[in-house]
Amino acid sequence: MKHLVLILGLSLGFSAWSWAQDTVTNINSKTGQIEVSKKPSFGEEDMEEAMTIFRERCTRCHGSKGNGRGKLASNLSPRPTDLTNPYWFQSTNPKKLKKVILGGGGAIGKSILMPANPDLRNKPKVVAALIQYITQLAPRKSN
Ligand code: HEC
Repeated sequence: MKHLVLILGLSLGFSAWSWAQDTVTNINSKTGQIEVSKKPSFGEEDMEEAMTIFRERCTRCHGSKGNGRGKLASNLSPRPTDLTNPYWFQSTNPKKLKKVILGGGGAIGKSILMPANPDLRNKPKVVAALIQYITQLAPRKSN
């Protein structure tokens, strides 16, 4: 039994580690550039899946351009975040985005109207791609 616990602990530790490796990205608050400290942690298929997820799950609230004007938006209070707003963009970071996508608004102390996506927990690459996608919706400073 002790051994089983040890093995479980080790494998959990390992998966937490590889999860962290997959999402080592940063947003430079001065330039607004996304920094990926390892090789891009996701492939083209992951990005395609992420874009499909955005279309199917996010646009009804955040709008197809991400500007917060989806079909359901006017019924919600607070309104869905305008993901194209550079001020919002500057205020966030990949870690927070991962939290809100997986755990919903409540996970970062925001409105629970922003739904959780717990099924994406075992798709770290797709989540990384989704984060990359939504952070590209906001305009960047060029320097
Ligand atoms: C049912 C409507 C709804 C859906 C669907 C939805 N959101 Fe949201 N989202 C919201 C609302 C409302 C907020 C604002 C929460 C607040 O300000 O308290 C929000 C906030 C956010 C934020 C900003 C969090 C922050 O830093 O303040 C992000 C990022 C986000 N949503 C991404 C997504 C993504 C990605 C999807 C699809 C996987 C999605 N949302 C689906 C309603 C929705």
